[in-house]
Amino acid sequence: MGHHHHRCLSFVLLLLLLIIISFSNASSDDAGFMSKLSASIFPAPPDWKLTNNFCQWSGIACDVSERVIAIDLASRSLTGTLPADLNTLSKLRTLDLQHNSLSGDLPTLANLTLLPVVFLQGNEFTSLPPGFFLGLTSLIAFNISDNPDLSPWTLPKDDLIQCSNLQSFVANNANIVGSIPDIFYTTNFPHLLNLGLSYNNLTGVLPASFGGSNITKLSLNNQKNQGLFGTLDVISSMTQLNQVWLHGNAFTGAIPDLSKCVNIFDLQLRDNRLTGLLPDSLMSLPTLVYITLQNNRLQGPLPLFPSRVHFELESNSFCLARPGDCDPQVTALLEVAGGLGYPLSLAESWRGNNACAGWVFITCDAYGKNVTTVNFSKQKFFGTISPSFGNLTSLRSIQLSDNNLRDSIPEILASSLPYLELLDVSNNNLSGPMPDFPPKVKFIAINYNLLLGTSLSPSRRSKGSLVSAGMVIGIVISVLVFIGIVCYYKCYRVPTKLLSVDHNETSISENGNLTISIQVLEQVTNHFSDNNVLGRGGFGVVYKGELHGGTMIAVKRMISDAMGTKGMKEFQAEIEVLTKVRHRHVVDLIGYCTNGNDRLLVYEYMPQGTLNRHLFQWREEEIHPLSWKQRVSIALDVGRGVEYLHSLAQQSFIHRDLKPANILLDNDMRAKVADFGLVKIVFDGKHSVDTRMAGTFGYLPPEYAGTGRVTTKVDVYAFGVVLMELITGRKALTDTMPDEICHLPTWFRRLPFSKENMVNCIDQVLDTADEVTLESIFKVAELASHCTASDPFQRPNMGYVVNVLGPLVEQWEPSPHEEEQTHHHHHRSLPHALQDSEDNYSSLFNDFQPNSI
Ligand SMILES: Nc1ncnc2c1ncn2[C@@H]1O[C@H](COP(=O)(O)OP(=O)(O)OP(=O)(O)O)[C@@H](O)[C@H]1O
Ligand SMILES: *[C@@H]1O[C@H](CO)[C@@H](O)[C@H](O)[C@H]1NC(C)=O
Ligand SMILES: *[C@@H]1O[C@H](CO)[C@@H](O)[C@H](O)[C@H]1NC(C)=O
Ligand SMILES: *[C@@H]1O[C@H](CO)[C@@H](O)[C@H](O)[C@H]1NC(C)=O
Ligand SMILES: *[C@@H]1O[C@H](CO)[C@@H](O)[C@H](O)[C@H]1NC(C)=O
Ligand SMILES: *[C@@H]1O[C@H](CO)[C@@H](O)[C@H](O)[C@H]1NC(C)=O
Ligand SMILES: *[C@@H]1O[C@H](CO)[C@@H](O)[C@H](O)[C@H]1NC(C)=O
Ligand SMILES: *[C@@H]1O[C@H](CO)[C@@H](O)[C@H](O)[C@H]1NC(C)=O
Ligand SMILES: *[C@@H]1O[C@H](CO)[C@@H](O)[C@H](O)[C@H]1NC(C)=O
Repeated sequence: MGHHHHRCLSFVLLLLLLIIISFSNASSDDAGFMSKLSASIFPAPPDWKLTNNFCQWSGIACDVSERVIAIDLASRSLTGTLPADLNTLSKLRTLDLQHNSLSGDLPTLANLTLLPVVFLQGNEFTSLPPGFFLGLTSLIAFNISDNPDLSPWTLPKDDLIQCSNLQSFVANNANIVGSIPDIFYTTNFPHLLNLGLSYNNLTGVLPASFGGSNITKLSLNNQKNQGLFGTLDVISSMTQLNQVWLHGNAFTGAIPDLSKCVNIFDLQLRDNRLTGLLPDSLMSLPTLVYITLQNNRLQGPLPLFPSRVHFELESNSFCLARPGDCDPQVTALLEVAGGLGYPLSLAESWRGNNACAGWVFITCDAYGKNVTTVNFSKQKFFGTISPSFGNLTSLRSIQLSDNNLRDSIPEILASSLPYLELLDVSNNNLSGPMPDFPPKVKFIAINYNLLLGTSLSPSRRSKGSLVSAGMVIGIVISVLVFIGIVCYYKCYRVPTKLLSVDHNETSISENGNLTISIQVLEQVTNHFSDNNVLGRGGFGVVYKGELHGGTMIAVKRMISDAMGTKGMKEFQAEIEVLTKVRHRHVVDLIGYCTNGNDRLLVYEYMPQGTLNRHLFQWREEEIHPLSWKQRVSIALDVGRGVEYLHSLAQQSFIHRDLKPANILLDNDMRAKVADFGLVKIVFDGKHSVDTRMAGTFGYLPPEYAGTGRVTTKVDVYAFGVVLMELITGRKALTDTMPDEICHLPTWFRRLPFSKENMVNCIDQVLDTADEVTLESIFKVAELASHCTASDPFQRPNMGYVVNVLGPLVEQWEPSPHEEEQTHHHHHRSLPHALQDSEDNYSSLFNDFQPNSI
């Protein structure tokens, strides 16, 4: 029985022991860590040697359970390292180790969920372990500044997000690399006020989330190497800011509007690459006291700050050394630069107050006074075309090709630049209506992206005053139409004329999709009613349609059955390209539709129909025959259209079927080339065999029949034939004539080139009484024979054709502005004109004398 008793006692003792062991387990861990700590830092505080009860050590505080809650060893000249298992001190609330010389790897702080304050600044730690910040859900203030020996580390985005109580995160001079993570919205850090990341090796742009933060003090200055770059735009939304240090980076662009940042008193922006004009809001910041701007590329007038402000401005590109307006040309050019976001390359060169003092991309007149040329070709510029180009009234040439410009071409470029001869906007991302330039302006817009929404608005189609009423109206109408569409869906049908697009038709303008539903086309053509037939061609029937706003369209319906899905894809791909081909003298392809085997193409409507009709069918149609003036003008329009097609960069279009039946006229008898490029589609689709595939007999040059080789000179030949038709009023191919003389070019070339003989060939309906008309006809005849030369290399290119026809049209329409221009053309020697064209005509010139008629 005693035996039994003894056993029972030892069981109780064992239990007790176990309880004691398990009870003391936690605090023994803290003890373990603390004894390791005492052995790894030097010199450990002297009192640490006196007792094993670490809760009584200086710099250490414990809770009632003898758990360490604070380690405060700041500024004790400590060296040595920290034991790796620091995060076993799970009750820790303060970790102040700043201003010592502690080194080695930092222990992780992961899972120290109660820890609000961590000060590690001013040490020599060598690395920060992964997961260091994990689960620091109570962290409020963190400082690891001045630890230059840290091996490079990046800000751990996902771990930091867990520290949602942060108010101050400071890590200046801590060897951080990479970019600033985009995590600073108040939803992640509702209390963050202070972010300091100066003197690191950060790069990249300011994160957008800064704009959604309540940060008051932001220090990102003096990044090593590349530095932070991009614009400061996000700062304008950081309305709580009071101290901003961004100096010593690579920020570019203009200083944004800071009018909402009313609390800023200290703004350090020096030593960046900032450009552009200072916003007025900067000078009127109500509490600003310190600002440094020196050593940037800031432009425009020198700023004038209130007297309380301490400012530094030297080493910039301001126009004058004292406050005051810049020269008007300088102002205009700076606005032009502003449209491009004030590119650095411009700001570096465009210094001072004289735009003619060697500014890059600028050429001035011979007196060095007025800017005549702006050439931004291939500069990788982003942005928009500034209407301030319109203030540079001496401009002759604006070259903007091969950049990344967006939005529309300001109408003022067409109306305010009397001397403009060239505007090249090719290969950008421009859209919207094309301004109506005077005919003498060589307007090149390869890959112009005309917005379909706008193209349906009537303002673009009509000429003159309506168009010059401007972009503004166009934009307003587009916006109203858009609002109208939204409203239609959201509320009710708006019975207003502005809503020119029925909801079924919205597919025309929505998301750049060019497909138009068959239902819409059925509706607008009265179910393809016979009454709507405009004409019939080799591939189908063309119907007239009217959209709800009154905009007229022409729907060409081609029926085929041989096109499979592959052909379909090609058809669509091709259409995508064709719909981007936009020119004043090329009929717009507005969209397309595929319905079963039908292919429908939607064009802008040309109310006066074909040139064919006006040239050869005016008697039957009982319309006026075309005057010579109208004919030359049509020839020039067609020349311009074809020149444009030939100069398309990606896919130089060869029309291959130029003829009066494919030249359409609007109500002003201005011409546009139609049906181009479709030859290719049809050919690829292999769905039909027709003369069109090979062009139309009578307009084909000899080499084409012989070799089948298609070059742009095929179109030049056909154009020459069209000129002959304009002169003679005879068709290229007259079935009723004997073979010998039925081919117009052959007949034409055989004519002895004397003026007397020529007169007999001229269309009887033309009034040839006046000398000017006759002279003009002779010039066109000369051009026609030049264009139809048997040797394709002897034919001019379309650029030359346009140069010859331009002055002939102008002599009927002299406008005050064009006086000098006309003068210029008249005195332009032929060899000079030929030099301008791509091909080499030097040999040609010898047998093509202007006086040879
Ligand atoms: N955009 C348009 N606006 C007004 N009428 C048009 C338009 N497009 C075509 N037409 C009319 O429809 C007719 C047929 O045009 P289509 O392009 O199909 O034939 P084509 O060019 O005369 O012949 P082919 O297709 O064989 O070259 C034209 O002759 C013209 O009268
Ligand atoms: C933190 O705690 C989680 C679970 O609470 C654990 O899985 C993880 O290993 C801990 N991390 C560290 C570094 O101790
Ligand atoms: C962080 O540490 C640096 C370096 O000692 C010091 O200058 C700075 O004031 C500290 N910032 C905060 C908010 O603790
Ligand atoms: C940010 O600051 C604004 C203005 O003081 C305040 O209204 C807002 O509540 C703040 N946001 C958060 C998340 O604290
Ligand atoms: C900065 O970081 C880059 C790589 O991110 C490195 O090449 C460069 O040496 C670093 N510079 C300094 C001064 O640390
Ligand atoms: C320069 O332009 C101004 C204003 O457009 C004009 O008055 C002046 O005559 C021009 N000067 C020269 C030399 O062309
Ligand atoms: C514009 O400049 C480019 C080179 O940057 C040059 O090739 C081109 O000929 C210039 N164009 C004009 C119209 O001066
Ligand atoms: C530019 O032209 C517009 C109107 O055409 C005018 O209002 C503006 O004052 C001009 N700007 C300068 C700098 O001349
Ligand atoms: C052109 O602009 C449109 C919107 O305006 C944009 O979606 C597209 O990405 C731009 N294209 C290029 C190549 O920049």
